[in-house]
Amino acid sequence: MAILNILEFPDPRLRKVAKPVTVFDDRLKMLSEDMIETMYEAPGIGLAATQINVHKRIVVIDVSEDHSEPMVFINPQITVLSDQQREWEEGCLSVPGFHEIVVRPRDVQVSAQDVDGNNFELEPDELLAVCIQHEIDHLNGKLFVDYISSIKRQRIRKKLEKAHKQSK
Ligand code: NI
Repeated sequence: MAILNILEFPDPRLRKVAKPVTVFDDRLKMLSEDMIETMYEAPGIGLAATQINVHKRIVVIDVSEDHSEPMVFINPQITVLSDQQREWEEGCLSVPGFHEIVVRPRDVQVSAQDVDGNNFELEPDELLAVCIQHEIDHLNGKLFVDYISSIKRQRIRKKLEKAHKQSK
């Protein structure tokens, strides 16, 4: 397995829209495993393929505390089930060091495929519901900082750009 490099805001590659996965082969399984390992190493609770510069609709998530529940979502889609919203303080491996409150639908259903191409559905609650919406946003080129004020977003952008220059 391999640890993959994670793109950081404001890298323009994070704005690409990912394409559906159509081939369910060993490469997809290996990539999913590398993504899970990269997520654990970071450490984080979710990672979208977009963040490792692979523009395919693949998301990995593990919201357990002991890395015991890795989940892979291929071609995930969200259906909003009610008007209820929920606030959550979100962070992102592509926006390291920053956390902001984001409001999202509370009640959602996810349909996706597993690495073998089998369809599955689930109704996630709490953190998992937030996380899956955050990760699907990545596949659509969207980041959690898009939900906050442009002043705050600019401040984060400048700080990260400065940090990236210093680390070169
Ligand atoms: Ni993220």
